[in-house]
Amino acid sequence: MSVSDLRQSYERGVLLENQAAISPIDQFALWFDEAIAAQVPEPNAMTLATVDASGQPSARTVLIKGFDARGFTFFTNYDSRKGHDLLANPRAALLFFWQPLERQVRIEGVVERVSPEESEAYFKSRPVGSRIGAWASNQSQPITRDALEAREREFKARYGDDPPRPPHWGGYRLVPSYFEFWQGRPSRLHDRLRYRADGKQGWAMDRLSP
Ligand SMILES: Cc1cc2nc3c(=O)[nH]c(=O)nc-3n(C[C@H](O)[C@H](O)[C@H](O)COP(=O)(O)O)c2cc1C
Repeated sequence: MSVSDLRQSYERGVLLENQAAISPIDQFALWFDEAIAAQVPEPNAMTLATVDASGQPSARTVLIKGFDARGFTFFTNYDSRKGHDLLANPRAALLFFWQPLERQVRIEGVVERVSPEESEAYFKSRPVGSRIGAWASNQSQPITRDALEAREREFKARYGDDPPRPPHWGGYRLVPSYFEFWQGRPSRLHDRLRYRADGKQGWAMDRLSP
C-alpha cells in the first residue's frame, strides 16, 4: 500500500453549536474526560509549538499536568530549546490529537512561568528517578550516552533519595486566547468550532469550514 492510499473516514461523532459548552475550558474538560474514558493512549500528551527569536517554529510533545480557567500547565527545563524560545517569544500553541475519538483540539495563547511553589509541589510528586534525571539532563544540549549516565550516577550520589528541584526546572502555564475543537466527519466535512477570547472575560464561538 502506498502512503497516498492511507485514508480514514471519520464517523465517530459530531460537534454541533447547540451541544458545545459556553466556555472552551469546559468543552476541553468534557473532551478530556471522554478521552480518558475511551482509553486514548496518553490523553495528556500534547504537541507544544514555539517560535524562536528568528521566527523559526519548532514542535515537540509534552505532558499536560493540569488545566483550569487560568490555563494549561506543563513542566520542563527552562534552559531547553523550548525554554529559550519562550523567553524570546512567549506566544505558543498546543495541539491534542485523540485519534480513537477522531478529535483534535488546538489552543493558542501566551505562556508564563508558574510560581516556584507550584513547580516545587509538582517536582516533589515525581518519582525519584525522574527527579535525578532533571539534574542529569542539560536538556537540548549535545551529550554522549556515557556522559549522561555518569551525570546520573553523580547526582544520585549527591542527592540520594531526596533530590531538590533544580533551579532550571519548573512549570509553564499557557494562558489561552484561542481554541478550536475538531471532530472528524464523513466526506471531510468535519466539525470545527472556534472560540476566541472576547476581551471581556468571555468567549465568542463560531464554526469554521473544514
Ligand atoms: C509522550 C511524550 C511526553 C513528553 N513529555 C515531556 C514533558 O512533559 N516535558 C518535557 O520537557 N519533555 C517531554 N517530552 C520530550 C520532549 O518532546 C522534547 O524531546 C524535550 O522536551 C526537548 O525539547 P526541546 O529541545 O525542544 O526543548 C516528551 C516526549 C514524549 C514523546
